[in-house]
Amino acid sequence: MRYDTSSIDAAARLSVAPMMDWTDRHCRHLHRLLSRRVLLYTEMVTAPALVRGGAVHLLEHGEGEHPVALQLGGSDPAELADAAQLGAEAGYDEINLNVGCPSDRVQSGTFGAVLMKSPALVAECCAAMRGATSLPVTVKCRIGVDDQDPRAVLPDFIARVAEAGVTRLAIHARMAWLEGLSPKENRDIPPLDYALVHEMKARFPALHLSVNGGVGSLDAALAHLAKGMDGVMIGRAAYHAPAEILCRADRLVYGEDGPDSTPEAAARAMMDYAETHLAADGRLGQVTRHMLGLFAGRPGARVWRRTLSEGAHLPGAGPELIEAALAEVVAAGAAAESDCAPAPNPV
Ligand SMILES: Cc1cc2nc3c(=O)[nH]c(=O)nc-3n(C[C@H](O)[C@H](O)[C@H](O)COP(=O)(O)O)c2cc1C
Repeated sequence: MRYDTSSIDAAARLSVAPMMDWTDRHCRHLHRLLSRRVLLYTEMVTAPALVRGGAVHLLEHGEGEHPVALQLGGSDPAELADAAQLGAEAGYDEINLNVGCPSDRVQSGTFGAVLMKSPALVAECCAAMRGATSLPVTVKCRIGVDDQDPRAVLPDFIARVAEAGVTRLAIHARMAWLEGLSPKENRDIPPLDYALVHEMKARFPALHLSVNGGVGSLDAALAHLAKGMDGVMIGRAAYHAPAEILCRADRLVYGEDGPDSTPEAAARAMMDYAETHLAADGRLGQVTRHMLGLFAGRPGARVWRRTLSEGAHLPGAGPELIEAALAEVVAAGAAAESDCAPAPNPV
């Protein structure tokens, strides 16, 4: 099913951030089992890889993943337009431009956060992508880079991409310091400035703005929404503790009736998924590596993680490994409950 603009904007109230090497199709399948409504993002796919390299296999995704957005990296308007068209033909619901990623490889190709310094070019890229597809074109950006003053540059950046027809942005609420910090450090060291992102919502009330960065729980996401943000994008916490972020989201973020999803049910459904993947010559570890955090914070989390990570690479490993790990979790849960039970009265 293809989402229209208003329903995908509604889905963007909560989203799982694009993460290279993490939010691949297996990961997105797991996340979709935990929430029917949350907006999922692909890993970044570069426009040159798609357009010049013909790597259209990078666009493969499952029918059940919707709503799902394709994130593109690039800075050549014509190439991004072609890539956006390929993304639309492949069935994505949204095309997102990466203006936030500080990795070296990405900088060398003039992609990602360095584009915060070229708002006119970003606007040109967005206009070209919009011209090539009827899908929503959105932007994920930082509040600024290097020695920029975010309070000066961010409003100007937003205004320019809005003039190019972009109506939704996700803003990682910290600077990227491109000199001297690794990509990983750039996700933690520059301080978060949520207040600035909230100010942007007040300044651009007609735009759909999501805040990103350091949101570690569903309650923290709900607090941003309660303060007037249109959406919250969560990266690492959604990957490392997907049940905490996603199981209650359909009810608490989207107001749906019905029972919350459970990690146990998702684990069982992943057995079927793994079986299909193995039948197509895939490897179990490609699926289970995204499941290690499924029981994070619950009894049995450690044995679950260990059983999967040690067993997935053994010859002949199959979906029954997930079943065995789940049995360990259920046993650990029962043991934890009996530990909490009052001691029987002495006779
Ligand atoms: C492993 C990893 C890979 C990432 N890859 C991308 C990417 O491809 N595109 C992007 O825009 N951001 C990428 N990011 C940044 C995240 O989308 C997000 O902005 C960042 O992690 C901050 O959000 P968080 O604190 O909720 O994790 C990546 C982050 C991680 C941890």
